[in-house]
Amino acid sequence: MSRHFDIGLETLAGRAVAASVDAGAPARGTFYIETFGCQMNDHDTEKVAGLLLSRGYRQADSPAAASFLLYNTCSIREKAAQKVFSRLGEYREQPDSGRMIGVIGCLAQQEGEDIFARSPWVGLVCGSASYHKLPELLARVEAGERRVTGLESDTDETFETELTRRDNPLRAYLTIIEGCDKACSYCVVPFTRGPERSRTSEAVLEEARQLAGLGYTEIQLLGQTVNSYCDPGPRGLRFSQLLREVAEIPGVRRLRFTTSHPREFTPDIVAAIDAHPAICEHVHLPVQSGSTRVLEEMQRGYTRQEYLEKVAILRAAQREISITTDLIVGFPGESEADFEATLTLMDEVRFDAVFAFKYSPRPNTPSLRMADAIPEEEKSRRLAVLLEKQRQIQTARHETFLGRTFEVLVSGKARQEKQWAGNTSGYRLLNFTSPLPDLLGQYIQVRVTGAGANSLTGEQVI
Ligand code: SAH
Ligand code: SF4
Ligand code: F3S
Repeated sequence: MSRHFDIGLETLAGRAVAASVDAGAPARGTFYIETFGCQMNDHDTEKVAGLLLSRGYRQADSPAAASFLLYNTCSIREKAAQKVFSRLGEYREQPDSGRMIGVIGCLAQQEGEDIFARSPWVGLVCGSASYHKLPELLARVEAGERRVTGLESDTDETFETELTRRDNPLRAYLTIIEGCDKACSYCVVPFTRGPERSRTSEAVLEEARQLAGLGYTEIQLLGQTVNSYCDPGPRGLRFSQLLREVAEIPGVRRLRFTTSHPREFTPDIVAAIDAHPAICEHVHLPVQSGSTRVLEEMQRGYTRQEYLEKVAILRAAQREISITTDLIVGFPGESEADFEATLTLMDEVRFDAVFAFKYSPRPNTPSLRMADAIPEEEKSRRLAVLLEKQRQIQTARHETFLGRTFEVLVSGKARQEKQWAGNTSGYRLLNFTSPLPDLLGQYIQVRVTGAGANSLTGEQVI
């Protein structure tokens, strides 16, 4: 069973009450966090910021105004890691700036103390499994200790705090499961985030109720394999049962979840979506490849046919559920026929959106040593072909929505007056016009009047 950290102070998420949090805490330095990577990292940053605020640190508006900088990093692909190293390289010129630099997150966990060798001006390296220790680690840095680390990874603990300082006033992230027990042969996450640990349903439901009480109407449940959720508490809820219970909390108008793994994507999840209008009609279900042979090499644990069966369950739902996916091109040994299989899968499924990546060899992963690397230019070619196909699929799909009306949660305002943007329950971006002055955070009915490859346009139905 997981152990949990309850830091036990009161805050209003995203609207933290400095007075109650800081009372009695000594005044400390100012921090600035830059976040790279996925939503899990975005949310970890919110938790770390809340934790530090509660310990008397203040959050700076810019790196220049901060006494220490934290980089919450990603290492999923080589490019993501390079981005972090180039940011760290900016301090090569100013090693005496007096500012402490800390590297946290997935690259920190992956590279460990090697980060100090590459960037000697870094004072702290800490992986996500050690975040609850961050205040203590920072205190050691402040006391003059150099090269402080928090790098344990084999843990049964989850990072829970009531102090989360949420950035997004509309959508609240809520972690239900951390880590990953899969072993996809290309992926660093099992190393960088450690083994799977689910939070108790009691803790998740309590946090969801608090969020609803604070006025959040949209909640997004997070996990690398969110549907592997397995309640360690006495109620032993399955993922779909947890979904249903969160969806029933008064005030929760939209419930999202990401990322689902196809292997554990079961019909009870679709039944929950059908039964609860608050559960959004969108499932992100990364397939990675349309070739069963490549899927096997990737150790994904399903065949093309099995994936298509999951899609069939989704398509048989009463509600019209959007399906989005991740694809990798140029996995070692991916033949032209394998790549064609990915293209035909796209034709069969007609995904609502696709996130496609060139395969990137990563440290410690089994596929690093696989033969038959695909040349970079060929990966780029395949990526371009795939994206063009998806552009056509999306454009055709979007055209079928012309004239229909969707409810959107308004999340942005365009530069032009009376132009707004929001997402439908199916996570389609809709840019629309309205004569009304202030719509941010509201749920609005919008009729679709135009369709592009990446978004829809429309006008408010009054
Ligand atoms: N847990 C999620 C994905 C997390 S990583 C899942 O299993 O679906 C997000 C995406 O990055 C993956 O779905 C995959 O498409 C991509 N990715 C991961 N490792 C990669 C690598 N080494 N090279 C290229 N893309 C990669
Ligand atoms: Fe990586 Fe696979 Fe785990 Fe997703 S399921 S995080 S791709 S190992
Ligand atoms: Fe990157 Fe770590 Fe997320 S490697 S994608 S930040 S889990």
